[in-house]
Amino acid sequence: MKVALVLSVIALGCSALVTKQERRFPDDFLFGTATASYQIEGGWNADDKGENIWDHMTHNHPNVIKDGSNGDVAADTYHNYKRDVEMMRELGLDAYRFSLSWSRILPDGLSNPVSAAGIAFYNNYIDEMLKYGITPMVTLYHWDLPQKLQDLGGFANPLFPDWFEEYARVVYDNFGDRVKHWITFNEPREICLEGYGSTTKAPILNATGIGSYLCAKYLVLAHAKAYHLYNNEYKSSQGGECGITISVNWFGPLTDTEEDRFAAEIRRQAEWGLYAEPIFSEQGGFPKEFTERVAQKSAEQGYRSSRLPEFTEEEKQFVRGASDFFGVNHYTAYLISATEHITQNVVPSLYDDVGVGVYVPEEWPQSASSWLTESPDSILNVLNHLNQKYNNPKFYITENGWSSPPSSGLIDDDRIRYYRAALENCLDAIDAGVRLQGYMAWSLMDNFEWMEGLTERFGLYHVDFEDPLRPRTARKSAFVYKEIIKTRVIDHSYEPATMTMTIDEGR
Ligand SMILES: *[C@@H]1O[C@H](CO)[C@@H](O)[C@H](O)[C@H]1NC(C)=O
Repeated sequence: MKVALVLSVIALGCSALVTKQERRFPDDFLFGTATASYQIEGGWNADDKGENIWDHMTHNHPNVIKDGSNGDVAADTYHNYKRDVEMMRELGLDAYRFSLSWSRILPDGLSNPVSAAGIAFYNNYIDEMLKYGITPMVTLYHWDLPQKLQDLGGFANPLFPDWFEEYARVVYDNFGDRVKHWITFNEPREICLEGYGSTTKAPILNATGIGSYLCAKYLVLAHAKAYHLYNNEYKSSQGGECGITISVNWFGPLTDTEEDRFAAEIRRQAEWGLYAEPIFSEQGGFPKEFTERVAQKSAEQGYRSSRLPEFTEEEKQFVRGASDFFGVNHYTAYLISATEHITQNVVPSLYDDVGVGVYVPEEWPQSASSWLTESPDSILNVLNHLNQKYNNPKFYITENGWSSPPSSGLIDDDRIRYYRAALENCLDAIDAGVRLQGYMAWSLMDNFEWMEGLTERFGLYHVDFEDPLRPRTARKSAFVYKEIIKTRVIDHSYEPATMTMTIDEGR
């Protein structure tokens, strides 16, 4: 798809007239925003909802959350869903990406019983969007596993793919008549590396160098099961598409040497290749060089077999090609060195297996999140790289955004700068032949930011968490995003005339 070029004439100085090419997003490009169930819904024990791993962790170990907060109420979307859709209409969104809470639909994890109240909540949310022509893009799993399945080992149990398929069937049966864009998992790296191989996400297992790799294998198989289920039993009648969202930050070489380029490649394989390679590569299976490295390290450490499990040939074939699109969550970049900036890591662990150094230049603007800086052309690097590596798949940017501190208010020029730069990168990628079909800004509104609680805000809308009604107020970035969606053009000089948000005609 080619970006349409529109010539516009702008005045420079007093008299000189120059022409500038104004680049447009295609009319059918899906502009949206994204959220996740645990981060916004609240209603943690509403009706017959079951406990999930975030309920369990925040209630039993409140100290792991920076400000001791939790998602019990969050932005209370459970009671505010109509206001959420009103915000989508104010922004003029084409699409809205949100996730389903597994334990709200299946309180015990398995499909007996199915919660009528849970199904009704999502029916209402979806129908309210469709009433106004907003396309729902639904993630089945955004980190909130039913606790009862975690008690059985969660993603490390070889039966996990069957549990996920059972849940997916209930979801397709109930919502597939209206939902045409499915995402099985959000961010396998964060689920497996942070939840199983570390203590930075629920279920804080800290099974370093082992749990993360078991999780990777069964997650990828579970994705493929849900994909094939949709493909074989639902696609012909429901006509939708099913894919996966992987967090792909950019890891480039610190210096342009052979060894730094290889170090960056190993780090990419460990960060997202573990999940992307089995699905999107021609040969299937885990990434080659990283697999060899973990096998070698495991042997040196006295393990009888590699800590990274293998796929059987049959499993490889089952997983390979099992996705209609590549969903990319992208935020930032890091520079990788084979020899510099190397820190000591726990043994065994994924980062010890990788064994490279990481550097972030001081001049890259810093957000409120320690891990998030604004780095030049990082989305473009990611899209071009994935596009070449995996032979031109269809892409969506399913998340991209910028955090500010709670005190930062409504004037968020840093977020605006970040979004404009990212969207310019998206146009560059489309120009270069990348089949990028949509962009979901993270996030529609401030929400519960996992271990950081309410201390980091990603919203186009501010949420007042002190007020029981959780009122939402548009930030300046919301007006800028709205103008981009309306005009399909990034006007770097656009300033909103007022800070009063309204719904335009036709929404
Ligand atoms: C995680 O496990 C490692 C050993 O593998 C240990 O050094 C570290 O302290 C543990 N972290 C926490 C937060 O328990």
